[in-house]
Amino acid sequence: MAQMTPVLSPVSRRLPPAPGHTKRDLLSLHNLSIAEFSALLDLAEEMKQHPEAFRGQLAGRTLALIFEKPSLRTRVTFEVGMVQLGGHPIYLAPGDIALGKREAVKDVARNLARWVDGVTVRTFAHHTLEEMATEANIPIINALSDLLHPLQAMADLLTLRQLKGGLRGLHMAYVGDGNNVANALAQAAAKTGMHLTIASPRGYEPAASVFMQARADAIPSGAQISVVQEPADAVAGADAVYTDVWTSMGQEMEARERQKRFAGYQVNSMLMSLAKPDAVFMHCLPAHRGDEVTDEVLDGPRSVVLEQAENRLHVAKAVLLALMGNPPS
Ligand code: CP
Ligand code: NVA
Repeated sequence: MAQMTPVLSPVSRRLPPAPGHTKRDLLSLHNLSIAEFSALLDLAEEMKQHPEAFRGQLAGRTLALIFEKPSLRTRVTFEVGMVQLGGHPIYLAPGDIALGKREAVKDVARNLARWVDGVTVRTFAHHTLEEMATEANIPIINALSDLLHPLQAMADLLTLRQLKGGLRGLHMAYVGDGNNVANALAQAAAKTGMHLTIASPRGYEPAASVFMQARADAIPSGAQISVVQEPADAVAGADAVYTDVWTSMGQEMEARERQKRFAGYQVNSMLMSLAKPDAVFMHCLPAHRGDEVTDEVLDGPRSVVLEQAENRLHVAKAVLLALMGNPPS
């Protein structure tokens, strides 16, 4: 029988470079194969169980963290992850470099590529990440854009996989804004065979381009990905109920209008009662208590939000090692 080629190198755990390149970026889960997505979750799981086995694996490497928006989880998990792997993080706040204002995006990218081994970027326009990736011959990692939040969706699916023992055939209901988190969850569902129903008010559905691509990507995995308007239709019989803020970072001017449009989209005990009896409640955090979720649900026994937050660390470490670790010898 022909030997299977491992998805990640067994020694280095590096993802292979993109065709025609010497490096690999992680801007969108669409660009991971089904096998790569699952191998990254496996690596994160292994790093969670045996953190000591990976100590020092990024010794001498430096990661720049460019943040154009606030962050608790993403910043801390990348910084802690780098330190645990023996590397060095450098945090660059919005005012520090004024990406695209003080200096063109391509100039920032080209300069950083001369000094550091990888860059993680939290930005507004997804295009900024793509430009960084084109201009810098080092891995670029999406730490959230207006379009996608890939590390979050990876941590979420790792959490569900740990709690439910697998993902294929599970049903997640996402209630609320079809935002960066919803888009990334649709991409992640497509890679795993988890079904996803998104309930959003008209005009606030996930990005059509991402949604159509996720549905096409889902054909091999068998995931069913759909959008409805009624929260109850999505939540009925679900294994997991997920929500996120109604107003994402950068949309503050729309907050008042959104407050009205999403009024019927709160995840509360009544809505949770429509899901399976063992359904879990998920949220990427930060939460706006009393808006998209009640205190009772967020702090209740079905809430796994802190497991999700913890898994952000293990997923960040897996991605850092897979992109910046030693190449296979
Ligand atoms: N979930 C998440 O990305 O949190 P932060 O915005 O705090 O990084
Ligand atoms: N949709 C939210 C996610 C925060 C982690 C935002 O973009 O603000």
